Amino acid sequence: MTPRAVTDRFSHMRIGVLTSGGDAPGMNAAIRAVVRGVSAEGGETIGIRRGFGGLIDCLHAPLGPRDVANILQRGGSILDTSREPRFHDPEIRRAAVATLEREGIDALIAIGGSGTQQGAHCIQEEWGGCVLGVASTIDNDLGGTDTSIGFDTACNTALEAIDRIRDTANSLDRLFFIEVMGRHAGFIALEVAVGGGAEAVLLPEIELDTGWLVEVIRSNHERGKISCIVVVAEGAHPGGARGLLHEIEDPLESLGLAGSADARVTILGHIQRGGNPTVRDRVLASRLGMAAARAAHAGKRGLLFGVRGNVVCETSFDIALAEKKEIDRTLLDMVNTLAG
Ligand code: F6P
Repeated sequence: MTPRAVTDRFSHMRIGVLTSGGDAPGMNAAIRAVVRGVSAEGGETIGIRRGFGGLIDCLHAPLGPRDVANILQRGGSILDTSREPRFHDPEIRRAAVATLEREGIDALIAIGGSGTQQGAHCIQEEWGGCVLGVASTIDNDLGGTDTSIGFDTACNTALEAIDRIRDTANSLDRLFFIEVMGRHAGFIALEVAVGGGAEAVLLPEIELDTGWLVEVIRSNHERGKISCIVVVAEGAHPGGARGLLHEIEDPLESLGLAGSADARVTILGHIQRGGNPTVRDRVLASRLGMAAARAAHAGKRGLLFGVRGNVVCETSFDIALAEKKEIDRTLLDMVNTLAG
């Protein structure tokens, strides 16, 4: 099938939009930008609820410019989201494509992280219409972009918590292990470790060396730094921050350092996914949503919208999904050096 967008690009286009995977602050700002961007191009937006699940279960309705009023500042997603295991089944994906065709949708814009963009890529391969992605995940582990919608807000939320914990850690001379989100990626952990002046940071990308960590805590102690903050990405230890403390408790106690009485674990968890997006995330979401809306009207397909430097960029799904985003080793060294 030839996409209508290519053959008749100035006709009234119907553009589907969905959010999928883990929600991220700024998704609503992106939805708003898509809807109003599409409207400015003379098109109509169809909001698909609950991610790809909504395509399978036919949960969709028109979304006009006034329907997205007053959502720019809200966390979560007005369209809801889902992690859709059914989408691995090609038969189910065919049902999703059938919904797009039955509803006369010309283009689909998928807002989300790597799982979402993989789903979008699959649909693009199986459907003649245009599929475009907008990079949005608090984990910031998606290729094809320097940063993704939600990352800045999640970091600021975690950082505020770390600052508060620092107050009490200092007052009671305690060792704190603070677990931040990131099962497979340590970008939040690294960012907040630098921003929060952590004494150490543990990331899933770097092999865990508990001997090294005990030595860092010991040498801090020797230099008079009794309280200490260790930022632990969720996936850095199989048991998370709790498992890590459990593993090093004995070595710490045997050195006369913080044992269970003086060490505490705080798991920040889903607090990092909610809340009002920061100005950076609102602006990023507005830019990417608008760019995707325009690209859909220009008949572009198979592209992820992200940002390089301060410039909006488009990258084909296969290239973006193949890109392995690397941890910035200079930031990692900085945490260790600046712990002082
Ligand atoms: O959306 C990304 C993320 O928040 C990861 O940082 C985290 O590991 C995971 O989602 C948690 O997923 P769920 O909310 O499904 O438990």
